[in-house]
Amino acid sequence: MPPVSKRTESLGTEHAFVVLAEVNRLIAEGKPVISFAIGQPDYVTPGNIIAAAKKAMDDGQTGYTASAGIPELREAVAAYLSRTRHLDISADSVTVAGGAKPFIMYTIAAVTDHGQGHEVLYPSPGFPIYESQITACGAVPVALPLLEREAFSFDLETLRELLSPRTRLLILNSPHNPTGRTLSRQELEAIAELLRPYPDLWIFSDEVYSQMVHDGEFASIASVPGMQERTVILDGASKSYAMTGWRLGYAANETLAPHFSTWITNTESCASSISQWAGVEALTGPQDDHRNMMESFSRRRNLILEGLNSLEGIDALRPGGAFYVWPNVSELCRMVGAANAEELRKRWLHEAGVAVLADQQFGTPNAGEGHFLRFSYATSEENIAAGLERLTGWIAKAKQ
Ligand SMILES: Cc1ncc(COP(=O)(O)O)c(C=O)c1O
Repeated sequence: MPPVSKRTESLGTEHAFVVLAEVNRLIAEGKPVISFAIGQPDYVTPGNIIAAAKKAMDDGQTGYTASAGIPELREAVAAYLSRTRHLDISADSVTVAGGAKPFIMYTIAAVTDHGQGHEVLYPSPGFPIYESQITACGAVPVALPLLEREAFSFDLETLRELLSPRTRLLILNSPHNPTGRTLSRQELEAIAELLRPYPDLWIFSDEVYSQMVHDGEFASIASVPGMQERTVILDGASKSYAMTGWRLGYAANETLAPHFSTWITNTESCASSISQWAGVEALTGPQDDHRNMMESFSRRRNLILEGLNSLEGIDALRPGGAFYVWPNVSELCRMVGAANAEELRKRWLHEAGVAVLADQQFGTPNAGEGHFLRFSYATSEENIAAGLERLTGWIAKAKQ
């Protein structure tokens, strides 16, 4: 058998998709599972967006587009990003791709060279594709631990120690997957201060949950004076408009935009033309459905947070954004004799019919931090109540 490359063998994955397949198999076998595992809104795409996609098809918008995206969408993204980040962003700085995710690879590939010792700092725990793509691109992954005692913010001292002339890219993600933490303007200013002495350092600011902030206002590091030029702002339609399956993401950076466009030509050619026209409507049309969805996510956040904190052995900080809670389950693991969060996850799935993700699915757990699980509350209030009830029953039994 001819060999598979080391690059391919070393690729990580997004375990939410693996657990989703496991959950679907159990459901197909007739075992009812309540899932808090997958990070996508449980709503269908708003009707006005679907209508715009149908119109695009009827109008014959079914061919390739420019790799950077259709001008109408690039203009709409530029206006949206300028308004929400209080910046002046031109349509020429905007590139559109098949989801936000491809820009992770495009950015790492655009600013690091294979085998040159270029380091990329990324949050840990964090979205698993960051580490996977840093390694696949031949750069050096450097994990930046997000700790519970810092409420999952950046420890500035650690960041200062990890930064060096070898650092080519810092990945930020706020609101954060999996902790739900949002970084305030003051925190971003303090981070920016540490970056100023490093002229070769780019920032990849993953802001796909920017429209999903429950408390306070969203802030982008690009808005801190001096940071816009070196920051790739990443946002997309998946989460804000319940469009995960449409595959539509957008990134803004004036210098890198033409390079992203070349990467897109080399890989996907362009994002789906139909999704792009739907994206124009998403960004420029009525926002009522988005607002209603957010109101419901905020209610669910309160419900699940209160419910989890009332369970024995579980302690959860209040997440400010996205649709995730990241409770500490160390005490519960001790109580029920589970070695770690992954063992608890498996037992809940098979014994309680409740699906979640474990900390090890978001990078190597930080030493001394205990055990954590990720709950996605992108599910109905009824499911949240029923899931919490199952867990209450399971804990009572498992303790004995
Ligand atoms: C932090 C983060 N970045 C990027 C993505 C990818 O989003 P998209 O569906 O637009 O590719 C996700 C999706 O879960 C995410 O959580």
